[in-house]
Amino acid sequence: MQALVLAGGEGTRLRPLTLSVPKPVMPLANRPFLTFMLEWLERHGVNEAILSCGFLSEAVERVLGERYGGIALRYVVEDEPLGTAGPVRHAAELGLVADRLLVLNGDVLTDFDLSAELAQHEAKGALATLALIAVPDTAGYGVVPTRDDLQVEAFLEKTAAPPTNRINAGAYVLEREVMERIPAGRAVSFEHEVFPQLVGHGLYGYLADGYWLDIGTPDRYLEATYDLLAERVESALPPRDETGSLVAEGSITSGARIGPMSVIGHHCSVGVGSTVERSVLHDDVRVGAGSTITGAVVAQGARLEDAVVVEEGAMVGAGASVSAGSRVERGARIDPGAVVSGGQPVGPA
Ligand code: GDD
Ligand code: MG
Repeated sequence: MQALVLAGGEGTRLRPLTLSVPKPVMPLANRPFLTFMLEWLERHGVNEAILSCGFLSEAVERVLGERYGGIALRYVVEDEPLGTAGPVRHAAELGLVADRLLVLNGDVLTDFDLSAELAQHEAKGALATLALIAVPDTAGYGVVPTRDDLQVEAFLEKTAAPPTNRINAGAYVLEREVMERIPAGRAVSFEHEVFPQLVGHGLYGYLADGYWLDIGTPDRYLEATYDLLAERVESALPPRDETGSLVAEGSITSGARIGPMSVIGHHCSVGVGSTVERSVLHDDVRVGAGSTITGAVVAQGARLEDAVVVEEGAMVGAGASVSAGSRVERGARIDPGAVVSGGQPVGPA
């Protein structure tokens, strides 16, 4: 089975993290995010994945290479962003795509039963089947009501008045006929231009259950981290320590308090008397002594000197340096390479 993974968005909501690393390979629990998706796809019989990249595409290719487990990887790079449906048409025109294709949003962490979605698609003789997942709050998603026979009734992208709590989970099974309906040579949105028009013409919903999360915002990136650490989603992570934290081998944390629910990347050091709680440090981060990081993310290569406080929801960009005694306030965003000096408080960008 073949899959196309949409991995070309700019990840604007995850800035500053996505200014230096594209969302598809952003470290999550110390692994490139997409490796979780690829393992899930492989469990459901996918053996070839086309990664549709745009923004920072070289980084995706460099990190993932030509093969991941049993999946052969191919890269299609867009000169201009082609939206969500445009990349599928583009790959089809390049002759890369079989008659039936799985299409995935590349920022979803999930373990729902993709094989069952494929089986339903086949049984219904559908042109397109969309996995739908129930969420407590539909804001920011595509809302998709279905009839009793599972035909899609409407596709309502980011609607203010949701008629159901079932949303588009970003995992589609498409027949070639659908790919051919996508206009060629320009950016096209499945959500705005393709699915609304397919309603009543062979568009079905598959009612998925299991774990599902779009990691594309800071809150949800942290939520995904905690859920992986607590094994609320199926994955193959190394064992956590007694605080539920994951500390990469070789990182130096003796004399610091790590946890609960934290991730320390490769080649990090955290100084004596420092505390890292419900937080994520990407690789090569150095934290001095007596610092406190709570509910925050610190990107690759950042340096935090002694007695720094990083508050809830703050994000420190790659290679930034924060001088001794500084406070990075709740929800603050520090740009990659920025210098926060003089112990002055830093507010949200
Ligand atoms: N190749 C390529 N080119 N990929 C793109 C482009 C592009 O121009 N634009 C976006 N993508 C990718 C993103 O990288 C992401 O993996 C996926 O397409 C969806 O884009 P998002 O920007 O993350 O969309 P969203 O989260 O606001 O909404 C979408 O996902 C929701 C579920 O997570 C929609 O599909 C909603 O209907 C859905 O509910
Ligand atoms: Mg998204």
